Amino acid sequence: MTKFLDVAKSAAFEGGEVLKKYWGNLSHVRHKSLEGDLVTEADNESEERIIALIQKAYPEHQILSEESGIHQAKDHDYLWVIDPLDGTTNYTHQFPLVAVSIALYHQNAPLVGIVYNPISEEFFEAEHGLGAKLNGQTIHVSSVDQLSDSLLATGFAYNRRETEDNNYAEFCHLTNSCQGVRRAGSAALDLAYVACGRLDGHWEIGLKPWDVAAGALLITEAGGRVTALNNEPFDIYEEVILATNGLIHDEISNELMKVRSR
Ligand code: IPD
Ligand code: CA
Ligand code: CA
Repeated sequence: MTKFLDVAKSAAFEGGEVLKKYWGNLSHVRHKSLEGDLVTEADNESEERIIALIQKAYPEHQILSEESGIHQAKDHDYLWVIDPLDGTTNYTHQFPLVAVSIALYHQNAPLVGIVYNPISEEFFEAEHGLGAKLNGQTIHVSSVDQLSDSLLATGFAYNRRETEDNNYAEFCHLTNSCQGVRRAGSAALDLAYVACGRLDGHWEIGLKPWDVAAGALLITEAGGRVTALNNEPFDIYEEVILATNGLIHDEISNELMKVRSR
């Protein structure tokens, strides 16, 4: 195991401890600028602890984290991308699909990705070129090769009330084309579930780099495929993701493009 992965794992466990501490015990739940976009003391304290640990190990690396934004540093080649609590709405309701998501990128290419659900104690990790694991066991994407046989997941951005590009039409269309579409409320976990074959695909519009940076590496390391909705190359800053087992990728992309061109 490289030192990068070691530091990422320790940081994810630190964040996870905070999420366990405040589980069912929150006293500060606040709305950010958009209705439904929440932040709690668990988000903030998890973020502080993760960032402190990474900065101690790598003071020269840059950090991008959901609640505090960009932390500039000397070495622009290395960027840590952090969601200290993915699934804040779930967390405030004690719906147990929540995660810490941590990735390290070098010159825009992922090196390490961790998605950790401290409530279910499921720890997903990947290192570029070395595969993906769940609780220490190697994982692979599913072998479902028809959209009609697949189970998918998606989500809806916090600005869904303000934008027409809210994923509702795509959701209705794909619901009729597969066995089901789940909306579990943590994009990072949706991606981790694609990586281990519980889901066959996930797409979403309006996601941020910290939602997808770790999960995207889990999927490619588990044998799957990650692109933009139209099959163009994936970019963590572009806010769109189509992540699948690879086998149903073109089929979903074609269906999404049919809806989006109407
Ligand atoms: C949210 C979750 C959700 C997705 C939202 C994200 P947060 O992240 O990943 O599944 O649909 O778009 O913003 O706010 O809970 O960290
Ligand atoms: Ca998130
Ligand atoms: Ca978050």
